[in-house]
Amino acid sequence: MTRHFIDLWQTPSSDLRSILDEAKQRKALRRLLPKGAVDADSALSGRSLAMIFEKNSTRTRLSFDMAMRQLGGGSIVLNAGDMQLGRGETVEDTARVVSRYVDAVMIRARRHADVEAFAAASAVPVINGLTDRSHPCQILADLQTLEEAGLTLKGARIAWVGDGNNVAASFIHAAPRFGYSLALGCPSGYGPDGQDVERARSEGGRIDLFNDPLTAVRGADVVVADTFVSMGDSDADRRLADLAAFRVTDDLMARAANGAYFLHCLPAHRGEEVDASVIDGPQSLVFDEAENRLHAQKAILIWCLEA
Ligand code: CP
Ligand code: NVA
Repeated sequence: MTRHFIDLWQTPSSDLRSILDEAKQRKALRRLLPKGAVDADSALSGRSLAMIFEKNSTRTRLSFDMAMRQLGGGSIVLNAGDMQLGRGETVEDTARVVSRYVDAVMIRARRHADVEAFAAASAVPVINGLTDRSHPCQILADLQTLEEAGLTLKGARIAWVGDGNNVAASFIHAAPRFGYSLALGCPSGYGPDGQDVERARSEGGRIDLFNDPLTAVRGADVVVADTFVSMGDSDADRRLADLAAFRVTDDLMARAANGAYFLHCLPAHRGEEVDASVIDGPQSLVFDEAENRLHAQKAILIWCLEA
């Protein structure tokens, strides 16, 4: 069966564990190499990845491109607006054609359903590089970062503060798989998808929902924030007003466990969802987190291609 990587709850727990371990091992093994050098085993030699972007990206685009280079393969970036997709060619026909040329496809899409439709018609693995519903690659990098910082995920307490968005959804999907509890503090009307919460709970995950940030972060080992206005959101002014009280400040961090880590997938807006003193302070892991997108993605690509 073709190994797509679309949502974390679709990947077996043992495979997710192996992906994280592979990411950490590969990162350690090439510590002294220049960034453009190929890993000693050249695991994806001769393989090509197409990346389709319907939305902006800095980290996802660069890290997937460098991931393929470091694995000995290559990548092609396609902006959806430049493709016939932008003129009405169907997602399914695009998938059938693209998968005749390349070995795997990464898609950043406006609509999650389009990634699912693409995967259903694709003969090669499809990776979700962010949709309106989820961002699974990001969460594997985040969990790698926390483990490397010394946190044991099983039994850890992670608090999500702000909008219950696509990134929050992937934290929910991963909770039962890695055994951390997740407390979400979101204003009324900005909570996470109810089906995601129910699925995670039915798999044994502990997901607690609160309408205030203080209760959500109490005793947390990790506090996570993300933008209040995601790509594709149209009501920026209303969102900024509704979410203003959910900014991560030094005071809020002081309610979490002593020395709690701060994560943010970036791009960040200092003074909106997080204060500069927090994101640029000693508890923040955000740049290790960004770097780990590269290492996590290499392991995801290897898993998808069974290399
Ligand atoms: N975190 C993340 O996905 O960043 P980009 O939007 O820059 O890819
Ligand atoms: N929630 C954000 C994440 C960006 C990486 C968005 O979807 O825009």
